[in-house]
Amino acid sequence: MFALSKTLSLHHMNKYYVKILKDLSIVKQIPAGSTILVGGFGLCGIPENSINALKEAGTKNLTVVSNNCGTNDEGLGILLNNGQLKRVIASYAGENHHLAEKYFDGELELELIPQGTLAEKLRSAGAGIPAFYTRTGVDTIVEKGGIPIKYKNHSKDFEVDIASQPKHVEYFKGQKYIREEAIQGDYAIIKASVADTNGNLRFVGTSRNFNEDMVKAAKVVIAEVESIVPLGSFGFDHVHVNGIYVDYLYLGGNYKKSIERLVYDESVYQKNPEKFKKAKNQGLRNRIAKRAAHEFKDGMYVNLGIGIPTLIPGFLDPHITIHFHTEIGAVGVGNYPLEGQELGDLVNAGKESITLNQGASTFSSSESFGMVRGGHLDLTVLGAMQINKQGDIANWVIPGRMVKGMGGAMDLVASGSKVLVVMEHTAKGEKKFLKDITLPATGLRRVDQVITEKAVFVKRNGELVLTEIAADTDLEWVRANTGFELTVADDLKKFDI
Ligand SMILES: *[C@@H]1O[C@H](CO)[C@@H](O)[C@H](O)[C@H]1NC(C)=O
Repeated sequence: MFALSKTLSLHHMNKYYVKILKDLSIVKQIPAGSTILVGGFGLCGIPENSINALKEAGTKNLTVVSNNCGTNDEGLGILLNNGQLKRVIASYAGENHHLAEKYFDGELELELIPQGTLAEKLRSAGAGIPAFYTRTGVDTIVEKGGIPIKYKNHSKDFEVDIASQPKHVEYFKGQKYIREEAIQGDYAIIKASVADTNGNLRFVGTSRNFNEDMVKAAKVVIAEVESIVPLGSFGFDHVHVNGIYVDYLYLGGNYKKSIERLVYDESVYQKNPEKFKKAKNQGLRNRIAKRAAHEFKDGMYVNLGIGIPTLIPGFLDPHITIHFHTEIGAVGVGNYPLEGQELGDLVNAGKESITLNQGASTFSSSESFGMVRGGHLDLTVLGAMQINKQGDIANWVIPGRMVKGMGGAMDLVASGSKVLVVMEHTAKGEKKFLKDITLPATGLRRVDQVITEKAVFVKRNGELVLTEIAADTDLEWVRANTGFELTVADDLKKFDI
């Protein structure tokens, strides 16, 4: 109750005007136990000043809602390391190893939610919608319940203390949907590029991401910005978020805008091979990417997952145009930047530095996943840990060992776009094609095609059929390294790449 009345009193002080703050003592006064929406995606577009203020205040027992929990020592990682977080509500944990350790040790609650569902939960809260229906997560552990949120402290066999609940399902036009409820924050701390003195906000690049959804979804909203300009400085057609949502504005400073994965255009590496030693032999992965490039048709709208999919653009026919969508919130992703061209406010969902092509546009996370969920993409390309013959796919968690999080993968495979999996045929000798997947599924019967360095499988009549094998292999190898019974196409082809 204390937390609630404090929340309300803060709100009442500034009923009508956005208040321009001289310092962040408001953030330092956020009570322990609050739920805080924290804008940004990885380290892109995060409210760096507000996070530091929370660290200085040492506020404990916080629930934070954010796409992921920063890195080992930046972004929300700062609050995690400082023992201030009770629960993290996120879609992805892959970049923060301390988070995984604390989670498996039972010291931290981690509530994983598919990225598009998370964005829509926030958008809904801001728009007064208590719940919505989605295909994302249908038939998986997201629907059935039982995702571990908290393990028992230091339990050796990973006994679960708190697990996610089963979801209500309903059928519309014969299709199953699950019901997801809105998430409202007590507070939102968000980051925009520019504000005017009415609190109207503008963002730059892909730093918009969750900031736009979160600024609408909390009882008290603190927006930090890099500049505050007089009214009329930007035209009314150029406001991204109206000031109606903003309670407090703070002119921030000292932005680090760290780029988690600085990647340059290939020409940069070729010009200076000594300076940039490539980590490992990309031969096998390049070969998969090269074969996958043949599936891209002129004009397609395509989402690329992290890993091997990001290599594909390097092998595309230069005469075709592909509109690349990235979940963080852009269509029209271009080449990696040249040296010096990189921007902290412009990264893809893999947190790599990017550029945008002419004709590109940027938008919020909920808009980005509206495109996905609404079936507007032509092709989704992603990696997998396990696949079965029916096209079930697992790629987000190994219980007790590794928790990446589903990120946007569950939304993407459920979207109805063609789903192409690119992966190495085995994982260090372990089979990845299995009769039954043993890891929690990302989606059931969703995979339309799989390309490995040795084989191509295409879904026909509900089953993956072997349609091509590599010139340097034979059927026996493929049979021995595939865990389900092969169905071989009558017109089996060879590919030589
Ligand atoms: C932590 O906060 C929650 C509310 O989110 C509250 O119910 C709980 O009592 C708090 N725990 C501690 C140890 O302060």
